[in-house]
Parts: sequence; structure tokens; C-alpha cells
Amino acid sequence: MMEFHVVPGVAVSDILAESRPLILEIVKEVYLMHEQGLTVNPDSCFLHLPGKPTSRVIALPAYLNGTVEKIGIKWIASFPHNIRSGKPRASAVLLLNDPEAGLPIACLEAAGISAARTAASAAVATSALVPSDQSVTVAFVGAGVIARAIVDYLAAAGSNVAEVLVHDKDRASADRLVTYTNTRLGSPTTRGDTLAEALKRDVVVFATTALEPYVSADTQLIPGQVLINISLRDLAPELLLTANNVLDDVEHCLKARTSPHLAEQLSGSRHFVTGTIRGLLRGEVTLDPTRHTVFSPFGLGGLDVAVGSHVLGEALDRRLTVPIPGFIGETSRW
Ligand SMILES: NC(=O)c1ccc[n+]([C@@H]2O[C@H](COP(=O)([O-])OP(=O)(O)OC[C@H]3O[C@@H](n4cnc5c(N)ncnc54)[C@H](O)[C@@H]3O)[C@@H](O)[C@H]2O)c1
Repeated sequence: MMEFHVVPGVAVSDILAESRPLILEIVKEVYLMHEQGLTVNPDSCFLHLPGKPTSRVIALPAYLNGTVEKIGIKWIASFPHNIRSGKPRASAVLLLNDPEAGLPIACLEAAGISAARTAASAAVATSALVPSDQSVTVAFVGAGVIARAIVDYLAAAGSNVAEVLVHDKDRASADRLVTYTNTRLGSPTTRGDTLAEALKRDVVVFATTALEPYVSADTQLIPGQVLINISLRDLAPELLLTANNVLDDVEHCLKARTSPHLAEQLSGSRHFVTGTIRGLLRGEVTLDPTRHTVFSPFGLGGLDVAVGSHVLGEALDRRLTVPIPGFIGETSRW
């Protein structure tokens, strides 16, 4: 009889921490499968809450048709005010289904899975955009959970980071990430109190909770500079119209008032999109070296399902799951 398993966050965290090199490969593989007809990633469904304009809950269902079929859905809440009381902004669960019969097979605590796949996508894109022998300076704008995870994944990807600058409008968060980065990445790291300082670095990672662009249209960016646009809404759209733009999925990214969506509205076309991360990984995207490059990942549910399936497999092998006998009430039709 099929059992249902719960995978607690503590087990998920341990498995994720040991799996970073593999998760980088999983994320690359899902990006390569995407656009080949081997994934189904419907639009994310945003639940907005009356009277809570900054909070939301998003559902991301996905199907992967790789060597093993996978089905699942991430349900992730974002309540930015949580950080005022020291709690994480995001919380999530991932439900996985059996691809033969459709039955739910597991529920995993998934805030860490979501952070890991997001950070891995940032590291995969950075590795693809920066020559491996090039040492780079990196700035983080926004020093929360996602930035912290990106530090871990830049380290796992072997990124050659000469120096790090951390900018956050909350100095205490910036100081936390400075300490963390000094330990984990081993690169000299300092706090930068102005955005302008951050925007001089070779690689700038945006991981804020900004809802509207604040990096203004007249900002002087640098040819060859790489902007990892994780939080999606920091950059004035004009800055994308003069950039090389690499997206994870064009249809997904040009929605929900992201900077790429605003750039499409401003220019009236999608000509500013240079290519996708799949194309970049396959060497099919030509970047103009006189421009800066913006990588905008909307975030594919398929990444969560793939990473979560790996975590479930490991948790089952190590007996770290909590089985729920009798979870499925009716196992026969009559
Ligand atoms: N694209 C994706 O796939 C993906 C996936 C997961 C999370 N995200 C996004 O990543 C972002 C960061 O998530 P998190 O969990 O680290 O959040 P968090 O709340 O832990 O950290 C965000 C930090 O940004 C800072 N900040 C907000 N506005 C700022 C500004 N204008 N300038 C400088 N700092 C600013 C806050 O003070 C905070 O410390 C969120 O916007 C989230 O939606 C994107």
C-alpha cells in the first residue's frame, strides 16, 4: 500500500546542505529540459490578500517528464513584515504526487528547497555569464535568506570571488550577511551603505523585497557587468532596454509588473529579450559586450519539484521521513 510521508524542515535542511553540487546539476538539467517539451510549468497562481498589500501566497504546480516522471506543487507564502520580529519572510510546503496513480505521496517543508533552487539558479547563471578564470567583485543588494543561500551556492559553484560588498536598507541584516559571507565564501566582505557603491561591482545580486523600481533609469551601469535580478522589481525598465536580457521563461517573466514586464510595456515589444538561460547554457545566446547583462528568473515550479524529489529520495533512504499510515482514506473504489 502506498504510504504518505512528511519530511520535516530539519531533515530537509541537512540533506540540502550536503547536496549543493548535485542541486546545481539538477537546476541546470531542468533549465535544459524546459522549452524541449519535457516540462509543464503553468503560470504561477498569486493569492493576494485584502488589506495586506505586501503579503501574498503563490502556487507553482509543475510536471517533469525526464528519465523519471515527477509531479508536484509548491505553495509559498511571502509575508515581508515577518522580518521585523526576526522571522523568515517566506514559508512553504511542497506536495509531490505519484506519477502513475496521481496519489499524493509526500509533503515536504519547502522554504529551504525554494531558497536552494533560487540560489542555485543565480549561481548557474553567474557561472554561465562570467568566464571561469575571471575573478569578480560581487555586491548583494538585499541581505536576507535568499542572499545568504546565494553565498552558499556561489561557493559550491566554485565562483572566483575577489571581494564582496553587502548593501541593505536594514544595516543589521547587512551586517549579518557580511559575517556569514566572510565565513562561507572566504572573500573579504564589507557593508556598503549606499546603493551607488554596490552598483560598481562586476556582479550585482538583487534580493530585496522592493515592489517598485528604485534603481533609476539614468543609472550608469558598466559594459560586461552582470545583474542577477532575483527580486525582479528593483530595476527601472529603461535599464533593461539597454541590456542583454536573459530570462528563465519569457512568458512567465513578462508578467506581474516585473522589470522585464515593465520594459515590454514601455517599449511595446519583446525585442529587448536576448535569450533564455537554456539557450545561454547551450551556447546559443550571443551577448553584446558593450552592454550590461540582466538575468531575470521568474522561478520555475519544476525546479522545486526536481530538488524536492531529490530531497524526498534521500530522506526515505535515511529514514528521516514521518510516515502517515492511513493518510489516503479510501484505497479501493468499492
Ligand atoms: N526569482 C525567484 O525565483 C525568487 C525565488 C525566491 C525568492 N525571490 C525573491 O527574493 C527576494 C528576497 O527574498 P528573501 O527571502 O531573502 O527576503 P528577506 O525579507 O529575508 O530579505 C530581503 C532584504 O531586502 C532588504 N531590502 C528591501 N528593500 C530594499 C532596498 N530597496 N534596498 C536594499 N535592501 C532592501 C530588506 O531589508 C531585507 O533585509 C524576495 O523579493 C523574493 O520574492 C525570488
